[in-house]
Amino acid sequence: MGEKEISQAVVARLPRYFRYLGELREQGVERISSGDLSVIMNVTASQIRQDFNHFGGFGQQGYGYNVDFLYHEIGRILGLDEEHQLVIIGAGNLGQALANYMNFEKRGFLVKGVFDVNPKLVGRQLRGLEIMHMDGLEHFIKMHKIDIAVLTVPKDSAIETAKLLVLCGVKAILNFAHVDLNVPEGVQVENVHLSDSLMKLSYNLHRYEEAFGKKTSGGGGKEG
Ligand code: NAI
Repeated sequence: MGEKEISQAVVARLPRYFRYLGELREQGVERISSGDLSVIMNVTASQIRQDFNHFGGFGQQGYGYNVDFLYHEIGRILGLDEEHQLVIIGAGNLGQALANYMNFEKRGFLVKGVFDVNPKLVGRQLRGLEIMHMDGLEHFIKMHKIDIAVLTVPKDSAIETAKLLVLCGVKAILNFAHVDLNVPEGVQVENVHLSDSLMKLSYNLHRYEEAFGKKTSGGGGKEG
């Protein structure tokens, strides 16, 4: 199936389709129409059809989508049909929390190593992984064919650390530090900023209150 250049907005929606289809698959659902999927996912059927058309459509008119096929195709498009080897750089609060989050492995993201510069942390065990010193990073990345680094160091060290990661051959960085990384073409960076989501939430909260003249009482929309 030929895949044209796809907008990042469509790419950003694919993991959500993948998750929902995974759940349907676990429930034993074999086929689903775009209409039914749209109800479950709280998006329009036309949005779903448009998104899927970027990849050749996937479905058959009047027949619905084959859930298992669609799940695997979207997984393949997302590159989840092969395993990714990860390192976490910065074993502080966030780095340790991420290293302890088992669910990455379910999706084929294998945390192979955790690195830090703090001698008090080096040598400690973290879910079966020993925290290593940054001195051994380059060798480790080459030995274990690491393709993704999760960057959880303080803002001040993030740019230098990202440069080092690129020199070591890392091709993708999941950046949690609140700083923009300047990486060469061909290196992918995905920034994760929880505070951006909170600010977006705050904006929508205020906009809702202004529009309807009342305070919201909790609850809210579907999980994204
Ligand atoms: P922390 O201070 O607990 O941990 C940072 C760790 O990085 C420390 O263990 C430190 O020794 C290590 N480190 C410092 N320089 C290093 C280097 N050059 N190489 C390797 N390790 C190095 O900080 P915390 O709370 O875990 O936060 C980590 C980063 O994530 C910070 O930049 C923080 O601002 C950011 N953050 C981002 C969030 C987001 O939503 N994007 C949420 C929370 C934190």
